[in-house]
Amino acid sequence: MAPFKYGMIVDGENYCPRPELARQFSKLVAAGLNVVVQGERRMGKTSFVRETIRAMRGMELVYIDLYCVKSIEEFCRRAVAAVADLDRSAGFLRRTAQLIANLRPVLTIDRDTGVPQLTVDSKSANSVASLEDVMDMISVHSRKRRLCVVFDEFQDVLELADSDVLLARLRAKIQFQNKIPHIFLGSVRNRMHEIFDSPKSPFFKSATSFSVGSIAADDFKHFLTERFKVARRKVSDAALDRILAISDGISGDVQELCETIWLATDTGAAIGDAEINAGLRLVFAREEKAFGPTLSRLTSIQAAVLKGLARSTDIKPFSGEFMSECGIRNVGTVTRALSRLSSDEIIYEYAGSWHFTNPFFREWLKTT
Ligand SMILES: Nc1ncnc2c1ncn2[C@@H]1O[C@H](COP(=O)(O)OP(=O)(O)OP(=O)(O)O)[C@@H](O)[C@H]1O
Ligand SMILES: [Mg+2]
Repeated sequence: MAPFKYGMIVDGENYCPRPELARQFSKLVAAGLNVVVQGERRMGKTSFVRETIRAMRGMELVYIDLYCVKSIEEFCRRAVAAVADLDRSAGFLRRTAQLIANLRPVLTIDRDTGVPQLTVDSKSANSVASLEDVMDMISVHSRKRRLCVVFDEFQDVLELADSDVLLARLRAKIQFQNKIPHIFLGSVRNRMHEIFDSPKSPFFKSATSFSVGSIAADDFKHFLTERFKVARRKVSDAALDRILAISDGISGDVQELCETIWLATDTGAAIGDAEINAGLRLVFAREEKAFGPTLSRLTSIQAAVLKGLARSTDIKPFSGEFMSECGIRNVGTVTRALSRLSSDEIIYEYAGSWHFTNPFFREWLKTT
């Protein structure tokens, strides 16, 4: 079994506990607040929210993933499935079915697993009113159980036809469910701000914001040391620092790099610079097909600015030194290059410095 997991929700032994963040977040949830959780991609938002709510005594999680949701009917189906996940007893499912009778629910038994399933008829569940029925059903259940409703990739509702009507009605329902904490998840660099920060949106200022950044370095290093130990590798503190720096503290990328280091080494290996480089070469081999074309699509000035940024994290792109290194004479040229690189989502600015959306691209650029 691979000791490192990435590109998926992690839990149990694959989840590095984040006690301080969990303490802050669970306070908001326990207070019944609505919270919008944002963070860079692959930071661990989904895993963190699920693990933290699961660990809250008496709290039950209704987890609705709206990733690429294409219709209201699909929204309803996913929400009903999330409620059915709470309790597979025949009594609970029958009661749930009664509460959404208008959606023509169907109770079946999964042939392979024997687990009862609750689905809804697609034609009866495709109006905003059906979604209101589902929200009301959740409300009724919440009288007997402490529920926390999570909408993951919430910004994807913007892709639905009539999303403005849908958001307005959803907001109206949520407003009356004041005992249920509703959690909205999405990445910083997508359209979440349109929903929560635009005065025109029904969700404007409707939720407390909470951000999920990098895992605290000491916690993550302790976790990774253990994972390497399970994989019978030894890793030094300095090596872990370098792994975190290369991955720019993005949890998923840290785990991916650790995985390739593990693949590139043998049982009993001590992980140092050479082993990290071997892991990086494996990452490059996987991603080179994308890196090359991305670089060749850029103008020579954009490429020079990008390579300049790759050299160091604390580079000031408007400094005379940087500009002369890149062979650029005026500030406007740098501004235009940065803005193009940002709109292509190759880089982004955060807390006064420039970061690569894919930190491995940055490492690869250093080798070109
Ligand atoms: N607490 C954690 N401990 C260990 N690894 C983690 C943790 N949180 C996240 N990761 C790593 O990051 C990856 C992505 O996690 P997750 O899907 O929870 O992040 P996300 O921020 O929701 O990502 P996305 O932006 O793609 O929705 C995981 O597969 C895992 O490799
Ligand atoms: Mg996620």
